[in-house]
Amino acid sequence: MMWLAPFALLVTSLVRPSSQQDGNTTAPFPNATYPNATSPNPAAAVNASFSPPYYPAPWGTGAGEWASAYAKAQVFVSQLTLTEKVNLTTGVGWEGERCVGQNGAIPRLGFRSMCLQDSPVGVRDTDYNSVFPAGVNVAATFDRGLAYARGQAMGSEHQMKGSDVQLGPVAGPLGRAPEGGRNWEGFSPDPVLTGIQFAQTVQGIQSAGVIACGKHYIGNEQEHFRQSPEAAGYGYDISDAVSANIDDVTMHELYLWPFADAVRAGIASIMCSYNQVNNSYACQNSHMLNYLLKGELDYQGFVVTDWQGQHSGVGSALAGLDMTMPGDTLFNSGQSYWGANLTVAVLNGTVPQWRLDDMCIRIIAAWYYVGRDNASIPINFDAWTTDTYGYQHFFAKEGYTLINEHVDVRQEHADLIRQIGSASTVLLKNTNNALPLTGKEKFTAVFGDDAGDNPYGPNGCPDRGCDNGTLGMAWGSGSANFPYLVTPETAIQNEILSNNGVFQSITNNFAGMQIQQLASQASVAIVFVNADSGEGYITVDGNEGDRNNLTLWDGGDVLIQNVSAICNNTIVVIHSTGPLLLGNYSTNPNITAILWAGIPGEQSGNSIADVLYGRVNPGAKLPFTLAEAREDYGTDLLYIPNNGEGAPQVAFTEGVFIDYRALDRANVTPVYEFGYGLSYTTFSYSNLQVKTVLGMNGTYTPTTGSTPPAPTYGTISNNTADYQFPSNLTYVPYYIYPYLNSTTLSIAANSSDYGDNSDVPPNSQNGSSQPLLPASGAPGGNPELYDVLYEVTATVTNTGSIAGEEVLQLYISLGGPYDPKIMLRNFERLSIQPGMSAAFTADITRRDLSNWDTVAQNWAISRYTKTVYVGSSSRKLPLSATLS
Ligand code: BGC
Repeated sequence: MMWLAPFALLVTSLVRPSSQQDGNTTAPFPNATYPNATSPNPAAAVNASFSPPYYPAPWGTGAGEWASAYAKAQVFVSQLTLTEKVNLTTGVGWEGERCVGQNGAIPRLGFRSMCLQDSPVGVRDTDYNSVFPAGVNVAATFDRGLAYARGQAMGSEHQMKGSDVQLGPVAGPLGRAPEGGRNWEGFSPDPVLTGIQFAQTVQGIQSAGVIACGKHYIGNEQEHFRQSPEAAGYGYDISDAVSANIDDVTMHELYLWPFADAVRAGIASIMCSYNQVNNSYACQNSHMLNYLLKGELDYQGFVVTDWQGQHSGVGSALAGLDMTMPGDTLFNSGQSYWGANLTVAVLNGTVPQWRLDDMCIRIIAAWYYVGRDNASIPINFDAWTTDTYGYQHFFAKEGYTLINEHVDVRQEHADLIRQIGSASTVLLKNTNNALPLTGKEKFTAVFGDDAGDNPYGPNGCPDRGCDNGTLGMAWGSGSANFPYLVTPETAIQNEILSNNGVFQSITNNFAGMQIQQLASQASVAIVFVNADSGEGYITVDGNEGDRNNLTLWDGGDVLIQNVSAICNNTIVVIHSTGPLLLGNYSTNPNITAILWAGIPGEQSGNSIADVLYGRVNPGAKLPFTLAEAREDYGTDLLYIPNNGEGAPQVAFTEGVFIDYRALDRANVTPVYEFGYGLSYTTFSYSNLQVKTVLGMNGTYTPTTGSTPPAPTYGTISNNTADYQFPSNLTYVPYYIYPYLNSTTLSIAANSSDYGDNSDVPPNSQNGSSQPLLPASGAPGGNPELYDVLYEVTATVTNTGSIAGEEVLQLYISLGGPYDPKIMLRNFERLSIQPGMSAAFTADITRRDLSNWDTVAQNWAISRYTKTVYVGSSSRKLPLSATLS
């Protein structure tokens, strides 16, 4: 049987003190005691680069809102044979069926295989679908309603294509390093902003009857070295994937935080990531899966691997994995860690039946939880080709049939996409009201490759793996095919022509002479520039997924300089996947306005035109910091392996200090701070009131007690003859099956170390009642964490002459020596008429005021004085009050 040790030895250690190490002798938590690292709970001694074992894998109980889905799942799973159960857990292999991932079917009960399909911006690999703005744009809206609406629209498109699981949204990467290739798929480096928009998206998707898959859990903060075979393709010789070495405090207060929100919101599937966490692969890391996700957060859905992210059979099963995708060990190997090997492992008792049953219950409960029993339709597309006819089993070239019905699933979503595009456009600079434009400017000139078409067409580069033309979508599996892409050039031209004006554009960034000539004629010059990034399997211009730097691409800086040197009304529009360096643009007097438009999707041009021409008054805020220098972020990626041929080690020594928290700590002034964004009107803030609801003195009750024993569903025949390849089934080459090729288990397992169970972790097969964790108690963690302790209100007044939207932001200082100066804890986007005021109301929960206590393994409120701030950005906080 194939299985590897689920954790390896430590290589480096992390030096950041936890926020519980007070530095002086007074304990920050009144009731905390500090024994000498001999806690009875092994997880209390989390060392940064060693992941402590935690077994057994918690079995789902139907907690929270999950009771009825669990009841239905129990009825279903009770009827299954062993191989039918294994089928649910194991993908059929890469390109084995029509979706990017599919598990085995249960034809006897009419259960078709589940279709798992990318991406976080729509339905990938098909046609007649929409391309929505990226997660980073949703973050920039600071608008919960838009996040939900987008989730629902995307979910509905998945539903109509026959997809059961949408592989998104993303909260990992969170955005530790600004160069991170996939940061745009997620939301923001701020865990609260991400947590809220992540949870809203999940609920939106699931409201459409589709299972959301939150990914990538966890520590997936860079593309470099995320998988060793991929790294080998780039010439790096490493035995194992990069290890994200994250201490217990940072894990809780930063990277796990948004996942807690999603679990609380009912997320029904979570994808474990490629990387290692503290030197244990995320998909077989018992601390991450068993202890944190299923134990502490009481997660009731299933855990699925990232594609090819499984590294052991029994090891991953006992460490809490529930589904392997695409099912084969390596793409098209025809081998699986599970499939027949899982059948063997259950028959010989290495994986207890309760663990397999729990995998199945979680998968089927997820299906019922979102209403798949009513929403499921036959799959009508194919991920591997848009041809109408082709092979059902693409890789094996078998089963030629109708595979693409080209169903148009877009509905009215273009309007929403356009709306989110403009609602996420951040106005960074607007000297002398240069914007909005009237459309009646005498001569409008547009510059930049980023304004125009990709000469190969909007989908000309597979998975958007190039930076040609306007950047409507970044690259990788997080993309989708455009139905069309409205370029800024087209939209602005339409605007000008409707006013009978003069419009000319140059989309070659290097046409120096022509650019100078046109700039000298323009009454307004709009310069489009970009910076792209994506997933590690594609390299664009030497960027292996992650960006190599934070500068503009394709000569963008030279373009801006050339135009702005001549035209004193130069407006810069930036499309980028994340932060970038702005040189002197913020102070250059010829640059009259700067806009950040992110990765806006198919309606890009219309969205930006709405803002430029004032149909939409910008209200978005930066979801990250724009710093003056790359070093100001205080974090960076690892670009060169640092551990010989061993797993590269990335120590997250900055702890919770990423993005604005890092600049605040170092007293570094950014160019534009987190949360910053202008409007065409102005706002004033007043009247902060803090109402004590429960306050900080109330008790917080750690969860005690224990789980019921692990249930099993149905009985499993021990007769190996029952599990041979059925005579009435046609064998498809490379397909992953649950069947045995021998009645002798040791032969069926085809492994030289069959029978050697010395690596099976202690307690991992134990299905008896287990103690509950103090920070657990309901999906999302101890329910008292979400008790409202204070209610904050403030007034915002529109002091300008046009209607506008303002995002009120609530920050908190926890006051401890290791706490960030301030942390975002809540926000609300309000729409206000000129001269009118609106009321801002925000709750502060217990979690908002707590730190993670590594010894108690629970949240606790420190004795330090806490302050609440309300304002319009992380550096403009006119209102404040001390919490009593
Ligand atoms: C990516 C996932 C994606 C999966 C399936 C992986 O390479 O990391 O985000 O869902 O492929 O396409």
